[in-house]
Amino acid sequence: MLEIKNLTVEVGNRRVLKDVSLSVPSGSTSVLFGPNGSGKSSLLNTIMGLGNYRVLEGQIIFEGEDITDLPVHERAQRGIGLMSQRPPNLVGVQLRDMLRVTSKGKRDPEKLAESLNMKRFLERDVNVGFSGGEIKRSELLQLAAQNPCFYMLDEPESGVDLESIERVGNMIHDLLTGGISCAGRRAMEGKSALVITHTGQILDFIEADRGYVLCDGMVACSGNPRELLREIRNNGYEECVECRLVKQK
Ligand SMILES: Nc1ncnc2c1ncn2[C@@H]1O[C@H](COP(=O)(O)OP(=O)(O)O)[C@@H](O)[C@H]1O
Ligand SMILES: [Mg+2]
Repeated sequence: MLEIKNLTVEVGNRRVLKDVSLSVPSGSTSVLFGPNGSGKSSLLNTIMGLGNYRVLEGQIIFEGEDITDLPVHERAQRGIGLMSQRPPNLVGVQLRDMLRVTSKGKRDPEKLAESLNMKRFLERDVNVGFSGGEIKRSELLQLAAQNPCFYMLDEPESGVDLESIERVGNMIHDLLTGGISCAGRRAMEGKSALVITHTGQILDFIEADRGYVLCDGMVACSGNPRELLREIRNNGYEECVECRLVKQK
């Protein structure tokens, strides 16, 4: 579904990704771990084509097509969706209108919001005055409206209280396992995802096949996500440095 080949990326004057390679097979979910500032959000933002991320080397291949230089809206049209870590407040844009636009008028905002118990937010400006958990739910609602084939979720549990984590986690589970038709076509193998998690809590709600640890802009190690999480919980990111040393030998 997604293949990242030897990606090196710069933002500002900083090299945020260095020779990163990873792949997310169709119908599977991969998880990205890593300490603060290791380049996780930069990777998702670069895949989405956002902002000032300059690809110096490497390629982003989505369903066999090189999308490295495509504008963001064309990536979205091909079925890539992003839930940002810190989405902006959109003053003057009601959530109802946002849902209408993201679904290209195909989904009824009322019905969508009702299914996620968010009807009372429809009249409000997107994210303005929303709590941490409400922002995440509003982002997920917008993703549901977009109905991508490939979901990128940037720390979906951050800023969410324990009670809301269950709600957000269940929403994500439903989105990833729900209807298999997406981006105007049938994806017979189901939806795919790349999920950043700091705490690993989201792993209680989704089936993840593969995990990657990003350190200092490089893939330090990869493996079973639950085993990686156990190592990180036990040893912090020390292991990650060791992995990198092993890899470099
Ligand atoms: N526009 C920018 N200009 C300069 N540095 C940036 C910019 N955006 C991100 N960075 C830096 O890139 C590094 C990686 O950031 P980020 O990808 O957000 O890390 P993570 O999501 O793993 O916490 C950080 O040190 C961050 O300060
Ligand atoms: Mg981040």
